[in-house]
Amino acid sequence: MTKDTPQYGFGTHAIHSGAAVDPTTGAVIEPISLSTTFAQSLPANPIGTYEYSRSANPNRDNFETAVAQLEQAKYAIALSSGSATTSLIVQSLPIGSHIISGADVYGGTHRYFTQVAHTHGVTASFVADLGTDLAENITENTKLVWLETPSNPTLRVTDISSVVKVLREHESKTGNRILLVVDNTFLSPYVSNPLTFGADVVIHSVTKYINGHSDVVMGVLATNDDELHKKFRFLQNAIGLVPSPFDSWLAHRGLKTLHLRARQASASAQKIAETLSQSPLVLKVNYPGLKSHPNHHVVATQHRDGLGGGMISFRIKGGAAAASKFSSTTKLFTLAESLGGIESLLEVPAVMTHGGIPQAEREANGIYDDLIRLSVGIEETDDLVKDIELALENAVE
Ligand SMILES: Cc1ncc(COP(=O)(O)O)c(C=O)c1O
Repeated sequence: MTKDTPQYGFGTHAIHSGAAVDPTTGAVIEPISLSTTFAQSLPANPIGTYEYSRSANPNRDNFETAVAQLEQAKYAIALSSGSATTSLIVQSLPIGSHIISGADVYGGTHRYFTQVAHTHGVTASFVADLGTDLAENITENTKLVWLETPSNPTLRVTDISSVVKVLREHESKTGNRILLVVDNTFLSPYVSNPLTFGADVVIHSVTKYINGHSDVVMGVLATNDDELHKKFRFLQNAIGLVPSPFDSWLAHRGLKTLHLRARQASASAQKIAETLSQSPLVLKVNYPGLKSHPNHHVVATQHRDGLGGGMISFRIKGGAAAASKFSSTTKLFTLAESLGGIESLLEVPAVMTHGGIPQAEREANGIYDDLIRLSVGIEETDDLVKDIELALENAVE
């Protein structure tokens, strides 16, 4: 099955891509291939396609085939974590390169850019709104732009095409190609496909929506660019940033229900965001599916069916104390980091995922002590709404 088959929709591809019936046993579900090495009939003449499992493995290959299909990419490379994916991309840049990143990115990405990238001779600077302020921040050393849309945790949406336009104009004036990497973790390939808007590389923390069951840490990147793919694949093998066959198998299994999970999570998140925005106990709601979202018009074109996704953040009245009380009294939303699983989670970014970012920088990007982030799971919508309403009443005196 190839990618642009008009007769098949996302869900059909999710189930069948990279999931052929096993030709030797007829197994409908692929076996887990744990062997680290593969026999050769003559020196340097493997019996099949595989030699050594760091370089390639059947389960990893199948998962990569499925992700490439769903991200509308020629290639995908699965890695040991989302952070390993970030690391691989930074390590692919020449010494002296400069990265421009959106300011409210995942805390671990911010940490890598500010505390690790310099060890590869790469520097990074941060821009609050890449949709409007990119051009004046480009230097002659800028080699890469890193964009999260929606951003984490304030759910700011950036028009990918407008960023691509700035980069193409820069290239035609100076001859300097700047790559655009989009972290699509918050939406998943079901809700948006950044490559179709001109991004060069799309990445995911597979740990989140793609696996979807909070039992695998893994990452993936996808691209249509032959040279980039070759470079990334070479580096992956050289550095050894590989996921296990078992994790690849689990993530592939999770991916097969992504369309159902993403639709349900989005539908519930929309109801919860509407409930929150009508509550007098809430100061502000960040959710791309709300008509009041500042970039709702971009959501309409960039997200499938204008879906808002499963992530919401909101500021509760009563400051840090209310945020703390709220997040420890919900019954269905578990207080824990991470997101994108079948179960609903919540967290307080200022002291959890984004605790490492200095307060002034955090607050400049809307990450106040009273901000709560919700990852809406696939429990019954009404039960989740009730859980939020009760915790709000309880938290705000
Ligand atoms: C948006 C985003 N990108 C990347 C990562 C890093 O992924 P991992 O935890 O799989 O290393 C995370 C983790 O929370 C994330 O939320």
